[in-house]
Amino acid sequence: MYKTPFLDLPALSSAAGEVTLPGSKSISNRVLLLAALCQGTTVVRDLLDSDDTRVMLQALRQLGCGVLVEGTSVTVSGLGGRLAHSQAIEFFMGNAGTVMRPLTAALAVLGGDFILKGVPRMHERPIGDLVDALRALGCRIDYLGQEGYPPLRIGTPQIRIDAPIPVRGDVSSQFLTALLMALPLAAGQQDITIEVVGELISKPYIDITLNLLQRFGIEVRREAWSRFTIAAGCRYQSPGEIHVEADASSASYFIALGALSAGPGMRVLGVGADSIQGDIRFVEAAQAMGAEVESGPNWLHIRRGAWPLRGLTLNGNHIPDAAMTLAIMALYADAPTTLTDIGSWRVKETDRIAAMATECRKLGATVEEGPDWIRVHPLPTGQWRRASIHTYDDHRVAMCFSLAALNPDGVMVRIEDPACVAKTFPDYFETLFEVARPLDVPVICIDGPTASGKGTLASRVAAALGYHYLDSGALYRVTAHAAVQAGLALDAANEKNIAELARQLPVRFEGDRIWLADLDVTDEIRSEAGGMRASLVSALPAVREALVDLQHSFARLPGLVADGRDMGTVIFPASPLKVYLTASAETRAQRRHAQVLQRGQAADYSALLADLQARDARDIQRSAAPLRAAADALDLDNTGLSIDDSVNQLLAWWEERLQR
Ligand code: DC
Repeated sequence: MYKTPFLDLPALSSAAGEVTLPGSKSISNRVLLLAALCQGTTVVRDLLDSDDTRVMLQALRQLGCGVLVEGTSVTVSGLGGRLAHSQAIEFFMGNAGTVMRPLTAALAVLGGDFILKGVPRMHERPIGDLVDALRALGCRIDYLGQEGYPPLRIGTPQIRIDAPIPVRGDVSSQFLTALLMALPLAAGQQDITIEVVGELISKPYIDITLNLLQRFGIEVRREAWSRFTIAAGCRYQSPGEIHVEADASSASYFIALGALSAGPGMRVLGVGADSIQGDIRFVEAAQAMGAEVESGPNWLHIRRGAWPLRGLTLNGNHIPDAAMTLAIMALYADAPTTLTDIGSWRVKETDRIAAMATECRKLGATVEEGPDWIRVHPLPTGQWRRASIHTYDDHRVAMCFSLAALNPDGVMVRIEDPACVAKTFPDYFETLFEVARPLDVPVICIDGPTASGKGTLASRVAAALGYHYLDSGALYRVTAHAAVQAGLALDAANEKNIAELARQLPVRFEGDRIWLADLDVTDEIRSEAGGMRASLVSALPAVREALVDLQHSFARLPGLVADGRDMGTVIFPASPLKVYLTASAETRAQRRHAQVLQRGQAADYSALLADLQARDARDIQRSAAPLRAAADALDLDNTGLSIDDSVNQLLAWWEERLQR
């Protein structure tokens, strides 16, 4: 997951390949709660691991449920309709509506002393209609802040079921879902009927609820979308084991990628046309816009069909989350696209109508909006603008706008707070980068004399940008190590053999550890002796040549920071930012001195200084890749600078380059 303040997506030419998607948030959290409420143990397979499911798991643990997480499987020991203990519990719901609403209902029916709160945005998301319905049933719920909104305090109810329970259905279908999951806990001698007031929105999510209730032993009689009856005497029963489908809303981004990309198309695994998730009907909307989609059990294959896409008018009520993706596809269409009946967007993680409109406009698009609709006009070639997309702590805004990187003008897209995707799809960007084909991968090159601090600077800049990091010196160090292990003397006589080893080097970088095949060689190659040996092999032209492909392979999305001798001159000559990092010999010797002392070894400053000056002279004079700044490199003398200063200078230069 990218935890950087922003993530720059280079312009993409297309995307193709296969992705396996994480489990559905809606199914995951419903299944977890149902497993907790029923008798017996339930093994949940392919559970989504995300912020919202963690919130639910934490709440269940607080309630005294047994929760055992093993990879993507979770074993839940149910409460059997009773709480394990009676002390007061305070729950923190984050911004997870799929926990807040159903847990409120279940706890209100079970009774106890509970406080439910969340992040500030959660306290702006309405819950009054659910509270009203629960109060009508005899539940005790108080508002601790603003009337109609969390936080809430829940007490012990006096349940009375003498009349149908009314609930509004036109703000969020989650209120009805919450009641449907809570009321079986109160099922006694008589049927319980819920009556929906107002036109029910997001009906497909109710279908998911009914489908899962059935899996847990609860039959609900549905009359149209207005009356739901839970039969007297029904009881939650664990299905033993249950599998979570991949998230159909998450699939929408990859379906869109397929529809936007010329080529072999996208294959999506984990969800198919027979899905129980309403958002799967996004497929039909994408087809209407021009996508060609084939599907089978648990898979979809999407290719570009009509191009440009066809603009259309569509009621988005049945696919509220996935319809956001259509708003971005609309930028690539031949006519405006209007999404209607999407008022629920305004009370989601953020006001999504406002968010989509504001951010599409930043890209250069014309967008109109109303209380419950949005119209996005196509954005013609030549009019796309580089934009920094604000994401409002809304995972879907972040994922949607990643699709703008396919723009025909080759402009990059900055996504702010990329970690917000953790709500439902923590590895979204990693998954995207596996299938995305960039026009170009940005590479920043940093070179400089020994002990100038280029490695530290490069890895810090890489971390700040979320880029990969290439420590090219380590490749020479590992090559020398492998050659010594193979019994080869490090001289010109063995040049061909050492080059052969370098060409097939089984090297792996994991965090700050370096592996050669299955051995951690970090400490050996980082030693002074390791550096000397590297210096010998790096003077052999055939070895340098043999490492070129390996070094190029590090240039992957979203970008690379490479440090070492010839990064800007030979390996990545087209790099838009090359920095030559220097410091006085005395400063470098002092730093090295401190380093050696820190390792608990003896060190002689004068000897180190002499060594360093001799090495500078050798490095400058040698014939293979001598130490010299690329002609277009910027000089950075960090003699008087802290590491933070140097990092900030580099990031400022990078920002300047991006503006060009
Ligand atoms: O940066 P370092 O100290 O890990 O580099 C080890 C040796 O390899 C050093 O002598 C410089 C040399 N080197 C090189 O010739 N070309 C590179 N791209 C990186 C390092």
